[in-house]
Amino acid sequence: MNELPMHPNSPNTPAPPDSPPAPGSTQEVTPQVAPQVTQNAVPEVSPAIPPQISERMPVQTNVAAASPRILAVMNQKGGVGKTTTTANLAAGLTYLDQKVLVIDMDPQAHLSLHFGLELASTDLNLYQLLAEDEVTVQEVIREVGSNLSIIPAQVNLAGVEAELAPKVITGQAQRVLADKVEALLQTPDRPDYIIIDCPPSLGLLAINALTLAREVVVPLQAHFLALQGLSKLFETIQLIQQGFNPKLRVGGVVLCMHEANTILASEVVADLMNFLEAGRGQDVPWADAVIYEPPIRRNIKLAESPSFGKTIFEYAPHCAGARDYERLAKSILSTPTASAS
Ligand SMILES: Nc1ncnc2c1ncn2[C@@H]1O[C@H](COP(=O)(O)OP(=O)(O)OP(=O)(O)O)[C@@H](O)[C@H]1O
Ligand SMILES: [Mg+2]
Repeated sequence: MNELPMHPNSPNTPAPPDSPPAPGSTQEVTPQVAPQVTQNAVPEVSPAIPPQISERMPVQTNVAAASPRILAVMNQKGGVGKTTTTANLAAGLTYLDQKVLVIDMDPQAHLSLHFGLELASTDLNLYQLLAEDEVTVQEVIREVGSNLSIIPAQVNLAGVEAELAPKVITGQAQRVLADKVEALLQTPDRPDYIIIDCPPSLGLLAINALTLAREVVVPLQAHFLALQGLSKLFETIQLIQQGFNPKLRVGGVVLCMHEANTILASEVVADLMNFLEAGRGQDVPWADAVIYEPPIRRNIKLAESPSFGKTIFEYAPHCAGARDYERLAKSILSTPTASAS
């Protein structure tokens, strides 16, 4: 397993004088989500075990699964943390020995920039993959780190929906990404995880992501009207499940930029729990959806790192944001896949 470079409590890494307190210590500023919210919590380790050892314990993984886990990071609301979550969850998973491919499905190309990728206008990217029949996945993939690669985007991706429009009637336009990626899934060097950073809309690009994905991960900021958008998103997921992708499920919600000590956030989280509870046992794709542990706290380092083209683990490995995404990666790795059999 690769060493997590970000871990402040590794026995090999002396804590810098200004480093945050160790997880589990009395000084630790823990994300304050009510215990019942964390339905998918990484199991608590006995307090008798020092935190630096518990952190290094192996987590139960799904690596034995024959096919990759394919996650669409989606919320049609803008600026909720989709790209930040895609980039840092992906990087966190690579430190847990997972081979990860991310797909930048947003014409803003923020994910590509987050990994410091600057493409020439002539470089192949997701636009050509979707618009040109003969372009293959292998031709557009770029390595951006150890065990980490990307299908990048550029602003020209904005034009692809118009290009694909004539194929909507036959259903081909909705599954062009799935059909192209299928070829990669048949090869021995397929990734363990494919994570798709979706645009803030529910158009043809988002539909392509949902047709490829098996699990939807929803970053959500616990703000006014957050749940109204969520029910619209879940309706769309259900339509795609029924029309194109019977295996599609909602894996869960990641609380992003979370401010646990505000009344509004607590109320929104309580409403979210009720909303998810109402789906239990129902024939809906969110029947088993969880609120992932931990919530991602607001942390300025997370906002700074993209402008340096770095993940949080490269930019500020000791900060709260790095620890939150490290724990989220472990949490998702240890979650049974949400796909239907
Ligand atoms: N936990 C956090 N703490 C502080 N800032 C954050 C955090 N998460 C994200 N941000 C910042 O908030 C802004 C929006 O985040 P991000 O780009 O990830 O959202 P998004 O949902 O992908 O946006 P869009 O809908 O435009 O694609 C960015 O400036 C990002 O750096
Ligand atoms: Mg984004």
